[in-house]
Amino acid sequence: VTDWRALLAERLSPARRAHSERVAAIAADLARRHGVDADKAALAGLLHDLCRELSEPELEAVAAAAGITAEVPAVLHGPVAAYLLQRDYGLADPEVLAAIDRHTTGDPEMTPLDAVVFVADLAAHGFPDLAQGDLWPAVLRALAIQLGYLLERRRPIDGRAIRTWNALLARGMLGAGGVGRG
Ligand SMILES: [Fe+2]
Ligand SMILES: [Fe+2]
Repeated sequence: VTDWRALLAERLSPARRAHSERVAAIAADLARRHGVDADKAALAGLLHDLCRELSEPELEAVAAAAGITAEVPAVLHGPVAAYLLQRDYGLADPEVLAAIDRHTTGDPEMTPLDAVVFVADLAAHGFPDLAQGDLWPAVLRALAIQLGYLLERRRPIDGRAIRTWNALLARGMLGAGGVGRG
């Protein structure tokens, strides 16, 4: 059994580890409120940024070897972490792996567990209001914040994030209050 916190200490700065612990705690809380497995949410939250401090060339090298593709290299740290956790560290739970994989862009097929981790990540990044209220409208608000940030800075947007946005709208996930101010 892997000591996850020892692994995080090898790969992440203290600040990033503190972020990981916050995401784990928020994700577990969200999971309990939305009927999702809190242990899986906490584990995915803890490990989601395992590869966040790899360089772009390092991420791209692992991704190429694993057959992982993305339009924007920055989003690779989610899928690459899921791949390495499964290959090298014995993490076998496909739901936890998917939530880690999907935390950077969401996914058109995202599940409630994926949604909890996605929202918890952005809540921990300075948007605590996202952790209130209904789950799927919060995912849309979180995506709107991310996409708006990239648009304003004239940065590229990965197609998977766009597909997620469109899929959630098509699934009627706006909620009663609409997207709100995001
Ligand atoms: Fe991340
Ligand atoms: Fe994060």
